Amino acid sequence: MTITVYPLSEDQRKPLPTPGQPLGFGQIFSDRMFTQRWSEENGWEEAKIEPYGPFSLDPSTSVFHYAQEFFEGTKAYRRADGNINLFRTIENCKRFNQSARRAVMPEVDIEHHFEAIRKLVALDHEWVPSGAGESLYIRPTMIATAPKLGLKPGGSYLHFVITSPSGAYFVDGFNPVSVYISDEFSRAIPGGTGEVKMGGNYASAVYVAQQVYDKGYHQVLYLDAVEHKYVEEVGAMNIAFVMNNKHIITPQLSGSILPGITRKSVIQMAPDLGYTISEERIDINDIIKGLESGEVTEAFGMGTAAVIAPVDKFGWKGQNMTVGSGGVGPVATKLYDTLTGIQYGRLEDPYGWIHTIEVA
Ligand SMILES: Cc1ncc(COP(=O)(O)O)c(C=O)c1O
Repeated sequence: MTITVYPLSEDQRKPLPTPGQPLGFGQIFSDRMFTQRWSEENGWEEAKIEPYGPFSLDPSTSVFHYAQEFFEGTKAYRRADGNINLFRTIENCKRFNQSARRAVMPEVDIEHHFEAIRKLVALDHEWVPSGAGESLYIRPTMIATAPKLGLKPGGSYLHFVITSPSGAYFVDGFNPVSVYISDEFSRAIPGGTGEVKMGGNYASAVYVAQQVYDKGYHQVLYLDAVEHKYVEEVGAMNIAFVMNNKHIITPQLSGSILPGITRKSVIQMAPDLGYTISEERIDINDIIKGLESGEVTEAFGMGTAAVIAPVDKFGWKGQNMTVGSGGVGPVATKLYDTLTGIQYGRLEDPYGWIHTIEVA
């Protein structure tokens, strides 16, 4: 399918962020967006890149009532030579379709979806920031647009991609986060939608995030929803623990854990960096014992936003437990430096994870 590119008029061009301006996350959006519509009669049509702007939707539209939508998150990184790297974006395209299947919404052509992202980033290349730790966050989304109440498959859908220049996740350097372990709230249930990126998963987590924030922690560690015992995820990241500075364990995919692309990358590269790694069913009581004995030397979250987020403190049943010596550990640092090195093109990519867009 061809993508029609609509020109930008001078008044549709927004001012680019100035160098050094704090970008935050998801607050500024680039000049253009990709859109494509699906209907029962015609399937996908009208693929276009057009000026960024609001949609007009009927108040009865499905997405407003039943959260019938899903999304992705990937990033473009500015290389020192001025060109731009996409990191494993094709994996996001595949996961987009996994979400589509679970949401009973139309799948996209993976190559076409990737090309839409590539072309959008190439056209808006000036919006890829070049400050330390900065990137262009890319948000592919699909929403149900049928203007009627009552939920059933079919109808009409809108697939769009927007992009947002984003600041470094760790503003003051690579800092640890504190995590509260919740034995009360769950993120996802067996048979639910936790293994795909449907918006409803995130809407229900806002309450928990607020509770944990009010207790003085940055993030929440979720346990499984049945026994409240097995480790699942930390906020919107996968989690890993380091045993005795050399063996990494991460929860095995359970059906209610999102199969993260950063997690998958860490599993693949850890042996090359001299660590062993295994996917296991992890009992929180074993982690608590390991924290007490010192066997758990590090813990970290893994996700596109932070890449690697070291954890220095866990709150559990009203008590605080320090992880290792409480700072940022050597394993998290090595993984972070290697992954970000590959993403920004400072290190060679032995895995074929990078797609470079030539713009310099
Ligand atoms: C619930 C959840 N878990 C884990 C992740 C990490 O996934 P990825 O590494 O693909 O960004 C994300 C982010 O997309 C997420 O939303």
